[in-house]
Amino acid sequence: MRFAQWVKIVLCLVLAALNVYLFVMSCGVEYPILVAREHVRFRQEMPTMDSWINSPFGKLKNYVFNVTNAEEFRSGRDSKLKVEEIGPIVYKIVGLNDVLERNATNIKYRKHRYRIVEFLPEESVAPDVLNWTITSTNNVILGAATKLKHTLPIAAFGFDAALMMEDIFVTDSVYYFLWEFTRPLLQSISKVSNIRSNVAVLYNALKEKEEVYSVKIGPEHGIENFFRIETLNNEVIIREQRPHTFRYDSGSCPFNVTGALDNSLFPPFVQPDTPLDIVAIESCRVLPLNFQRRERYNGLDIFRYTLLQENQKPPGCLDTSYGVKLHDGMFDVSQCVINDAPSAFSMPHFYGSSYNWSEHYEGYTPNAEDHEPYILLEPITGIPVMEKYRFQSNIPIPDLRGFSNRLRRFSNMMIPSFWYEFEMGQLPGFVTALIWINVNLVAHMQPYCMGLFLLVALWSVLKAVRVACDDVGYMGLFRKLCCGNMGAATALETKFQATTPSIHVTVK
Ligand SMILES: *[C@@H]1O[C@H](CO)[C@@H](O)[C@H](O)[C@H]1NC(C)=O
Ligand SMILES: *[C@@H]1O[C@H](CO)[C@@H](O)[C@H](O)[C@H]1NC(C)=O
Ligand SMILES: *[C@@H]1O[C@H](CO)[C@@H](O)[C@H](O)[C@H]1NC(C)=O
Ligand SMILES: *[C@@H]1O[C@H](CO)[C@@H](O)[C@H](O)[C@H]1NC(C)=O
Ligand SMILES: *[C@@H]1O[C@H](CO)[C@@H](O)[C@H](O)[C@H]1NC(C)=O
Repeated sequence: MRFAQWVKIVLCLVLAALNVYLFVMSCGVEYPILVAREHVRFRQEMPTMDSWINSPFGKLKNYVFNVTNAEEFRSGRDSKLKVEEIGPIVYKIVGLNDVLERNATNIKYRKHRYRIVEFLPEESVAPDVLNWTITSTNNVILGAATKLKHTLPIAAFGFDAALMMEDIFVTDSVYYFLWEFTRPLLQSISKVSNIRSNVAVLYNALKEKEEVYSVKIGPEHGIENFFRIETLNNEVIIREQRPHTFRYDSGSCPFNVTGALDNSLFPPFVQPDTPLDIVAIESCRVLPLNFQRRERYNGLDIFRYTLLQENQKPPGCLDTSYGVKLHDGMFDVSQCVINDAPSAFSMPHFYGSSYNWSEHYEGYTPNAEDHEPYILLEPITGIPVMEKYRFQSNIPIPDLRGFSNRLRRFSNMMIPSFWYEFEMGQLPGFVTALIWINVNLVAHMQPYCMGLFLLVALWSVLKAVRVACDDVGYMGLFRKLCCGNMGAATALETKFQATTPSIHVTVK
């Protein structure tokens, strides 16, 4: 035989061996699991890495409320506050996950949530909305009264006298309330204490918080533990809650981040009953996701989770704020906000809360479509494909008996300061495509691939034999292979001939 012939034969045999190997390997594994094991390695070179590093990204839509009957309420003519929602006031948000350390089983990164914050005038309710003038309750005075009532009730009397010149309503631009809100009182106090003077809602909400996560990666931990948190800022208890650990009780305080997720990636193969909790850094707590239903979204079967359920009871240690017992569907965030101001989160417009706002207000329009916070998760890859993260920040006012008349009128109200929605941006096309391939191809292609491996193996062996026999065709090869077995072939022919004559007869 010629040299070239040998090379061809060897190549064919190698190809055959490779395909037999692939076939045998395929018998022992499931392709989706194989892909998932690669995915959870979270390699630097992964095509989806860039999208993760520059996340979260999307739009932050803010809404404030304009009090339209401040005069009537002040004078006592109206018993309820009339409010009008102003918004959305939209900002583009791009975050950054800065990888600090990594090895095969862990990755540590610092999350800069608000690396880019850019006002989007065209997507807001009006390009000049920041210059609009609105009237709001004086939340500095109301918050201070609430705090005082809890810590030093006896001072109520002097409090009011000291603040005679402060109006109970403030009228200024939307920009002022979002970015620059302060009062003369605060400015003087801030000079002599660590109280901060700028209490504007967005200014404080978008302030950078230290967020260094250490999460599990790699198949060693089990793919069901992919991206589950080990520590946040090198601790397992959320740092802001540390000073309050005297009241910490692991059963009722959702402050332990162990096993929670940072809401950027989730483990693959999620089931409806897989426990998923996220770290809600803006409220300094761990928030369980509630599986709601399966849905179709952009050609994918996804799971829909809500962040709060209607009338969900607050966890035991978050059910009061400065002595005010909170309604269902709310939870305390005072330990987490600027100056430890009294505050509680609810769904926007008090949706799904047991607070009967219509006793105090006119103008809210709570509904699931606009106000329910949710996450859509593709369960096979564990990649969130859409998210509307919505919360309203409120000041819970206690019974203000003992204070002056103008403050007493706010007794037992929940005063919203604003609400926001973070809407996740569309995933880049190739990430969506990878999800689609994972879900629609990988799950079904195993039998086809294994068939193909067998075919290629068979073809390569035959090719090797044909080359060995001086490039015979398949017919020639067939004859050669059958040579040793003439008897059987003749028998077949004979039998065949036996039936044909009768046909010939009938045709004639
Ligand atoms: C807010 O309400 C006041 C009082 O009704 C009104 O004059 C003002 O135009 C409102 N602001 C906006 C932006 O609608
Ligand atoms: C990876 O890093 C983690 C945390 O930094 C450490 O506990 C673990 O032992 C490291 N693993 C390896 C294989 O080096
Ligand atoms: C808002 O008002 C400020 C000061 O009056 C002005 O400089 C700015 O151009 C206004 N912005 C818009 C969008 O109208
Ligand atoms: C946090 O939770 C983990 C897992 O449930 C547990 O092992 C650990 O002891 C908890 N830590 C604290 C401080 O409660
Ligand atoms: C809520 O308040 C309104 C107005 O005061 C009242 O008519 C309504 O009956 C109350 N609803 C409940 C469930 O208490």
